[in-house]
Amino acid sequence: MKFTISFILSIIFAVGVVAFGFTFFQSTNERTKLDRELEVRIAHISDELFKANPSFFKETDHLKIELLADSLRKQFNLLGFALYFNYDSILSNSSVTRLLNYSKAYILRSLTADTSVGSFFKSGNMQIYQYVRPIRNSSRSNLAVVFYTDAGYIDKVIGSIWFRNFIGWFIQAFLVSVITLLLIRWGILNQVNKIVVWAKAIRTGNIRQIKPEPHLDFLDPLHKEIESIAKAMNEAKATAEEEARLRSSAEAIWTPERLKVEMENLLQNRKMIVVSNREPYMHIHDGKDIKCIVPASGMITAMEPILKACSGLWIASGTGDADRETVNKYNKVEVPPEEPKYTLRRLWLTKEDERHFYYGFSNEGLWPLCHIAHTRPIFRNDDWKYYKKVNEDFAKVILEETRDEEQPFILIQDFHFALLPELIKREKPNAKVAIFWHIPWPNPESFGICPWQREILIGMLGADLIGFHTQYHCNHFLETVNNVLESRVLWEDFSVKKAGHTTFVKPFPISIAFTLKDYDVNATKIKASELLSEFGLTSRFIGIGVDRIDYTKGIVEKFLSIERFLEKNPSYVGKFTFVQIGAPSRTLIKSYADTVSAVENEAIRINLRFKSKNWKAILLLKKHHSHEQIAPFYVSADFCMVTSLHDGMNLVAKEFVASRNHNDGTLILSRFAGASQELQGAIIINPYDIEKSADAIKQALEMTKEDQYQRMIQMRLVIVRHNIYSWAASLLRTMASIN
Ligand code: F6P
Repeated sequence: MKFTISFILSIIFAVGVVAFGFTFFQSTNERTKLDRELEVRIAHISDELFKANPSFFKETDHLKIELLADSLRKQFNLLGFALYFNYDSILSNSSVTRLLNYSKAYILRSLTADTSVGSFFKSGNMQIYQYVRPIRNSSRSNLAVVFYTDAGYIDKVIGSIWFRNFIGWFIQAFLVSVITLLLIRWGILNQVNKIVVWAKAIRTGNIRQIKPEPHLDFLDPLHKEIESIAKAMNEAKATAEEEARLRSSAEAIWTPERLKVEMENLLQNRKMIVVSNREPYMHIHDGKDIKCIVPASGMITAMEPILKACSGLWIASGTGDADRETVNKYNKVEVPPEEPKYTLRRLWLTKEDERHFYYGFSNEGLWPLCHIAHTRPIFRNDDWKYYKKVNEDFAKVILEETRDEEQPFILIQDFHFALLPELIKREKPNAKVAIFWHIPWPNPESFGICPWQREILIGMLGADLIGFHTQYHCNHFLETVNNVLESRVLWEDFSVKKAGHTTFVKPFPISIAFTLKDYDVNATKIKASELLSEFGLTSRFIGIGVDRIDYTKGIVEKFLSIERFLEKNPSYVGKFTFVQIGAPSRTLIKSYADTVSAVENEAIRINLRFKSKNWKAILLLKKHHSHEQIAPFYVSADFCMVTSLHDGMNLVAKEFVASRNHNDGTLILSRFAGASQELQGAIIINPYDIEKSADAIKQALEMTKEDQYQRMIQMRLVIVRHNIYSWAASLLRTMASIN
C-alpha cells in the first residue's frame, strides 16, 4: 500500500484547516481584549483630564489647545483631541483636523444617546481609535470632546499572532500527522500487507505461504480471524478439489452396476448365497391385509443393496406371521415385493428353536458376551443345544440349495451362525465360505467365560475368511484363537492355520448404499415445527436418534445428557426437542423389556420436569419406522446423536450423514461405535460421560455453518468412497483370491 499525492495533500489541507481554526479563535479573542483595554484606557484619560481641568472644553484659544494636545501626546501617546460646540463649530489641534469628518456622525450618535462612544476607522494607512464623550453643562448646549489615538499596534499584535500561532499550529499538527502516518506505515500497514499477501496466496493456491507471522498485540483478534479464515478456505479448497477429483474419476466410486460386473467376473457363473437369521422382508398381517416391512437391522441395511445389485439367494428365518402365506412351495419369495431383484428362501424355526437359539444363546449369551455394556451373559445348556441344531438346519438348507454347485460363494452373516462355516466346509470343502461378524469381538479374557468358546472358534475357523468391522476386533479374535486352540496364528498376514486349513481374518468396515447419484439428491428440508406438528408439538431445534431399543445403544444415557443440557442451558427449554425413534426389539428377553421400561420412564420423567405447553424435551416414537418415515428427520434435524455403549459399526451414523445433501447439521457419535474411526468429522463423545455429552449437544446446536460444512463434507466423502458396494467388492475379491 502506498501514500498517494492526493492522500498527502488531503492531510496537509486538513492540518491547515485545523491550524487556521485555532489561530482564528485566538486572534479574535486577543482583538476583543485589546479593543476593550484601549477603550478603558481612553475613558480613564478623559476622566483624569476632566478632574485636573474641569473647564478645559470651554477653551477656544488655538495655542492653548495645541499645548494641551502636545502634553496629551507626551503623557498618554494620544494624537490629539477636538472640541465640538455644534456641527459647524469644532476646534482641534492641527494634527487631528483631517480626522474631524470621520467623527461628526459618531459625535451626533453619542450626543443623542447621551453616552460615550468609541470606534475605529482608517485614515490613509493609519488605524485610528476615536472616543467621543458628551459633556453636560448648565446652558444645555450639545458639547462633546473627542480623543484620538493611533490603534495601529492592535493590527500588529493580531498580525503577529496569526504569523506565530498559525505557523506553529500547522507545523505541530503536520509533524504529529507525519509521525502517525509513519507509525501506521511501518507498524500497521506492514501487518496489513502481510495479510494481503496471505489472502493472495490463498486465492492463488500458494498455500505454503500461509504461516504464522509475528504481529502487534492489538492486531491479535484480526490476525486470529484471518488465520482461521485462511485455514477454513484452505480446507474448503482441499475439499472442493477432492470432490472435483472424485467426480472426475467417478468410475473409481463403486456403484451397483460396477459391483454387478465385478461379481460376474469373480463368480464366473458360481452361485452366491447370503445367510442370516433376520430376513430382509417380513410379511405380517395388518387387519385383513398383509403388509411387507423391512426389519430394523444394520445388517439388512448393508446387505440388501448388494443382493439387489447382483441377484443371488438370501436364506433367512421366516419370522413374520404372514410369511408362510407369501412363499411358494419351495419356501421362496421374490423380493423386493414392488420390483423383485433376488430370491428370499425362508426357513422355519419352531417356537423352541426361537426360544433357545435366537432369544437364548444368540441374544442372552453371545450378544452380551461380545458387547461390553455390563449386561451379564447367560449360558444355558439347552440354548447351546438348540444353537447347534439351528446351525445344522441352516447348513442342510444351504447344502440343498448348492447341491449342483461345485464352488458356491457363501456369505454368512453374524453371531447367530458361528458353527455354519465348519458345517458347510465339512460337506463341501470347495465352497468359498466367509462369515462376517457384525458385532464387536471382545478381548480373550472376556470371551473366555463362554463355556463353548472352543466349539465357536472351531466353527468359525471352518471359513476361508472371517470379517470384522475393525482391525481391533480382528486382533481380539486372533488373540482369542491363540489362547484357546492348538493352531498357528500368522500375524504377518492375519491368518490362522489349523489342521491344514487357512482362515484369513480381515477388517471390512461395513457401509451403506451411497453413490455419487445419491450424493447429489436434493432432499427438501422441513422446519422443526412442521415435523413436530403432527404430534401437537412445536420447537425450533431438533435432534434425532434412531435405534433399536437395546441396552447397548445407550438410550438412557442419551436422555440423561439431554436433561443435563437443558439444565445447563435453560434458554433452550421450549426451543429444543430430541426425537428418539426406537424400534422395540427382542422384547421377550428380560433385559430388553427392562430397557424399554427404563427408556420410557426416563422420557416421561424428563418431560415432566421441563413441562411446557405444546412442547416436550423428548419425543419418544416407540415403534417400527420404515426408511421413508425416518428420512425427513435425518434430512431436517439439526443433529443426530448416536450413543452406543459398544457397537460394531452403527449404520445410523452413516445414514444420517449421507442424508445431509446440504452439507449441514452435526453428528454426535460415541467413540465406542466402529463408525467413529471413519467419521472423524463427528463430535466424538464417551456416552457414559453425561456432562461432556450435554456440552456436545450445545456444541452441535451452536456450531458455525462453516464448521458444519467442513465436517459434513469430510464424512460424506468417506462414505461415498467406502460405500457398501466397495465393501462387497473388497470382501468378494478377498474371498475369490483365497485358494
Ligand atoms: O447388526 C447386528 C444385528 O444383530 C443383526 O444381525 C440383526 O439383524 C440386527 O442386529 C437386529 O437384531 P435382530 O435381528 O435380533 O432384531
